[in-house]
Amino acid sequence: MTTSRARISKAVIPAAGLGTRFLPATKATPKEMLPVVDKPAIQYVVEEAVNAGLSDVLMITGRNKRSLEDHFDRNYELEQILHAKGDDDRLRKAQESTDLATMHYVRQGDPKGLGHAVLCAAPHVGDQPFAVLLGDDLIDPRDALLTRMTDVQQEHGGSVIALMEVDPSSIHLYGCAAAAPTGDDDVVRVTGLVEKPDAADAPSNLAIIGRYVLDPAVFEVIAKTEPGRGGEIQITDALQTMATDPSIGGPVHGVVFRGRRYDTGDRADYLRAIVRLACEREDLGPDFRAWLRAYVSEEMQSR
Ligand code: G1P
Repeated sequence: MTTSRARISKAVIPAAGLGTRFLPATKATPKEMLPVVDKPAIQYVVEEAVNAGLSDVLMITGRNKRSLEDHFDRNYELEQILHAKGDDDRLRKAQESTDLATMHYVRQGDPKGLGHAVLCAAPHVGDQPFAVLLGDDLIDPRDALLTRMTDVQQEHGGSVIALMEVDPSSIHLYGCAAAAPTGDDDVVRVTGLVEKPDAADAPSNLAIIGRYVLDPAVFEVIAKTEPGRGGEIQITDALQTMATDPSIGGPVHGVVFRGRRYDTGDRADYLRAIVRLACEREDLGPDFRAWLRAYVSEEMQSR
């Protein structure tokens, strides 16, 4: 079995999607730049990678994504103005994203699916295991999912995906895993994967949430993977090949996440994520919660 247990240091963040669910907001602004409270969604994701020790970040972008690069770069003019005003607090906020990680960018060109986006990372990643983080899933910084996944990868080799139990009625929104238990309560051996199955055909209620630690053999597999659901090259299909043949890049394990995940992929979930995160913020939370309580009780009375 060829599988690499080299130290994981690179994170890949696909960010080439058109974000059509958020039109018109995403007509000229990438969906990754939409604020969750006061920080663009993408910054939470880069912070998560860095917190797990991955400070080399490759973003897979597309047309219309310049502001992503600008966000992680310096803005000298703004910094000078804030400095001159002595506004250290805001200056710190403006600089926060700049020094987080070593950022790299590559364009996907044709949007041929998530698997294809990951394949664009091959020249940068080379021959070592790497992480993939999808921007629509935000993982609470208090729940160190990615660190657990990299530990599991170092223990077992191969690839590791993040799974979460969902209501069977929503499994059609996710990749779904067939899995067998291991000695660890939060780790399963993945025996099969299917992208967005109908509830009736789903092998379990274990949904893939957007975190992966992948053996570099995945690149060769993706290159041979035919377009699947939606006519797109799916990472789930490539991982299905690997899960059923561990001679390619080792086994596939799943970490079953039971922590706090916020979905920013659709509008209602995005609003919920903002409310939940705002409630937990030290600076905004106390006032916002008080307002929210009053608002909810007003709503209840008017029904
Ligand atoms: C992608 C993956 C899917 C996974 C999901 C997690 O789908 O293809 O397997 O469950 O991310 O967020 P998307 O939501 O981008 O359509």
